[in-house]
Amino acid sequence: MAEPRSVDMADLRPRLQRALDFAADQVKATTERTPDYFPIYSVDGQWQHGGELWTDWCAGFHAGMMWILAQAKGSQEWRSLAEHYSSLLEHKQHDRDVHDLGFIFLSTYLPWYNLTKNEHLHEILITAGRTLALRFIPKGQYLRSFVAPESLFIDIMMNVPIIFYAARETNDQALFDLAVAHCRTTERTIVRANGGTAHEGIFDLPTGDFLRQTTHQGLSGDSDWSRGLAWSLYGFGTVYTYTNDPSDLAVAERNADHFIDRCPENMVPPWDFDVPDGPDRLDDSSAGAIAASGLLNLAKLTKSATKSERYQNAALTILDTLCTDRYVAWSTPGWQGVLKHGVYHFHKKLGVDESVMWGEYFFLEAVAKGLGVPLANSPSGL
Ligand code: GLY
Repeated sequence: MAEPRSVDMADLRPRLQRALDFAADQVKATTERTPDYFPIYSVDGQWQHGGELWTDWCAGFHAGMMWILAQAKGSQEWRSLAEHYSSLLEHKQHDRDVHDLGFIFLSTYLPWYNLTKNEHLHEILITAGRTLALRFIPKGQYLRSFVAPESLFIDIMMNVPIIFYAARETNDQALFDLAVAHCRTTERTIVRANGGTAHEGIFDLPTGDFLRQTTHQGLSGDSDWSRGLAWSLYGFGTVYTYTNDPSDLAVAERNADHFIDRCPENMVPPWDFDVPDGPDRLDDSSAGAIAASGLLNLAKLTKSATKSERYQNAALTILDTLCTDRYVAWSTPGWQGVLKHGVYHFHKKLGVDESVMWGEYFFLEAVAKGLGVPLANSPSGL
């Protein structure tokens, strides 16, 4: 266990800027090579490969990167691309096959609406929130995952904020209560006392009783899948900005402290903290990137000065590690992504030691925050 160190911003800042510029080059090249295509994970560094998707949940990340670049660079060209790619996703507001409508709309239509106040965009966000809420299983008090009605995923903590958003914008108390119920069920069933998380919880459908913790992408039902833990620390932190409920902040802090405690000194985690030393203990840079961005949020949300410093230091240490030749593909000719060494689904051998779109997006988001770029999709107060 290593305590995160403070990072020399004079050294890091130029590498953050270089990473942002490199991300702009890579995203632009992808739009030129494969117009209107939304990547998910790479194979040997190439985005378009026809491999299994498992689930189609990532389109918002490619378009979302364009919104970040439009804001970071103040560029009309990026803004037009961001609007075009986002408009291709409008129909997903009615998509009942995925639990990922927060990922898709909060990184695209939320900044678009916040920058324009166009009522049509507002309605799309609200519809997406209401569509996601249709996944609620009343007996178990949770939003079901894409795999089965009895399944709850930790990832959904990143998506439930769009229900809170829709509830707030329409003053819908029942919708708000549904979202709160999902968070409390998640906390009770798949967040552990030590701050670790399981990927999935399984319920008995006839009674709604919780049965067991399990996993798809982690090592095992009782392990710490590092990306799930990153989703939880970021997600509960965002939820707190809607609820003001100290329980949400407390869960996010418990997750954050557990994540930091289990990280190596460079703060970039293996894909599961419980993978034994050996060839399978590969980094998941995407978990590091998500955690970096979520920790920067928590550094502002926490009421503790000590924790704030700890989270800020951990986030900047992650960025300090990631903004190097090992992780950023700026020294790997022909690699189409930005961030190398992500892992999508180890067991299915999908996107293992590759670029993954959520790693790309949250890395760019964390880099932009590190550079002080104000982002129009940041939750209030962040
Ligand atoms: N299940 C979404 C993820 O790969 O994090």
